[in-house]
Amino acid sequence: MKRARIIAGNWKMYKGIQETKQFLHALKSSFPSTSCKVVVAPSFPALAAAKEAAHGSSIALAAQNIHDAKEGAFTGEVSAQMVKEAGASYVILGHSERRELFHETDSFIQRKVKAALATHLVPILCIGEKEHDRESGNWKEVLHKQLDGSLAGFTAAELATLVIAYEPVWAIGTGKTATPEIAQETHAAIRHYVAKKWGEALSQKLPILYGGSVKPANMGQLIAEQDIDGALVGGASLDVESFTNLIIQGSSL
Ligand code: PGA
Repeated sequence: MKRARIIAGNWKMYKGIQETKQFLHALKSSFPSTSCKVVVAPSFPALAAAKEAAHGSSIALAAQNIHDAKEGAFTGEVSAQMVKEAGASYVILGHSERRELFHETDSFIQRKVKAALATHLVPILCIGEKEHDRESGNWKEVLHKQLDGSLAGFTAAELATLVIAYEPVWAIGTGKTATPEIAQETHAAIRHYVAKKWGEALSQKLPILYGGSVKPANMGQLIAEQDIDGALVGGASLDVESFTNLIIQGSSL
């Protein structure tokens, strides 16, 4: 089955409004012909400017986080509706930096997924094990637990638009990419578990992105694997040339 290919840039806390505009204008003018969906996740303040700069292109925008409530006394937080209004059509949820640094739990992430779906934002749900779980062979249990918790109570129909990003924590920003074999084995295991819990149909059309030190030099090998449907890219998405290169490689078979 042919699944959607997605190349998404997670800009984290980099690039303000001006840099975001410059990047998107440059990306638009060098935009390669591609079969991938291209998504950029700028900072909250730059979302609206990004929307304007991306106008007339197929570049979609993602927020890097949302709160699960519609509105309320949550100083410093933003809602799904707010980021949607600012121009996002996707939202990254459960990134390991949010889990680690901001103590986000699977049940909080589950409520965020719910808020995203209710607002028709596509959730890019990040899951990934730590180095000691990979080394001890415990990685499958960790990933299953994250999937059980973050997706508790949803039907397959509700999850129709879901995207999963497998991001081994030990590979994020470390330069240590999972080998294509490890990534493929893990993606296949995730797909298998989704099939078991939500059915074969959802699992077969679910895009599973790989994330963790993806760069032009390793993209080709990763995307060649059967169960890798694209990438969630941090560092290498901050440079137009490198991101364009990733988009080109993402389209190859
Ligand atoms: P990296 O980040 O590509 O810089 O490793 C990936 C991510 O955190 O999504």
